[in-house]
Amino acid sequence: MTQDEMKQKVAEAALSYVVEDSIVGVGTGSTANMFIDALATMKDRIKGAVASSEATAERLAGHGIPVLDLNEALTRVDSLSVYIDGADEFDAGKNLIKGGGGALTREKIVAAASDSFVCIVDETKRVDALGLFPLPIEVIPMAEELVASVAEKLGGEPKLREGFTTDNGNIILDVYGLTITDARGLEDHLNSVPGVVTNGIFSHQGADVVLMGTPDGVETIR
Ligand code: A5P
Repeated sequence: MTQDEMKQKVAEAALSYVVEDSIVGVGTGSTANMFIDALATMKDRIKGAVASSEATAERLAGHGIPVLDLNEALTRVDSLSVYIDGADEFDAGKNLIKGGGGALTREKIVAAASDSFVCIVDETKRVDALGLFPLPIEVIPMAEELVASVAEKLGGEPKLREGFTTDNGNIILDVYGLTITDARGLEDHLNSVPGVVTNGIFSHQGADVVLMGTPDGVETIR
């Protein structure tokens, strides 16, 4: 089975976590795109979706799925029923690295607004310790050098994502070479640096359930 076939399987499996008649949070990336295409088959059974990026909003709308602004959604309901999204890495504690597509901040916001987070990945995303995938940090442009120096002091090698601006108008620093043994501590530490909007460690907003695609089928990790 190819990586795309494994992604397709988990995207379809995630449909069983969609709560009927509710507002669903939807992530960003190639696996999330497959989920959006699958969600279209039951679009008449949900109230709508909150998107974690402009690209996701466009794809949802293309399928005729009602796209709600998060603020508007939260005037109608206390929370979104579920957030469904991919990840770049996950560890045994269901901590994640996200942001390969640059949508980490909105992804973290929508995840925080949801009752649960179902993460859809293929088995290549599983790691013993986060950090093989470069850690994305969304940074307000004037703080680039400040944040880069903090990343260097942590033993990382920060690189500006060239030619990329986030949906929020900021830059991304990708930090190479970190071995993350304390995901929660590093998430908090980096987020305390002025100019950091957020970083791609999802420990506070880690997954509740990981659906992992393997050549033998979908494995559910709770
Ligand atoms: C987007 O910013 C990311 O957090 C994605 O969720 C992550 O990169 C996974 O993407 P793929 O599903 O394309 O691997």
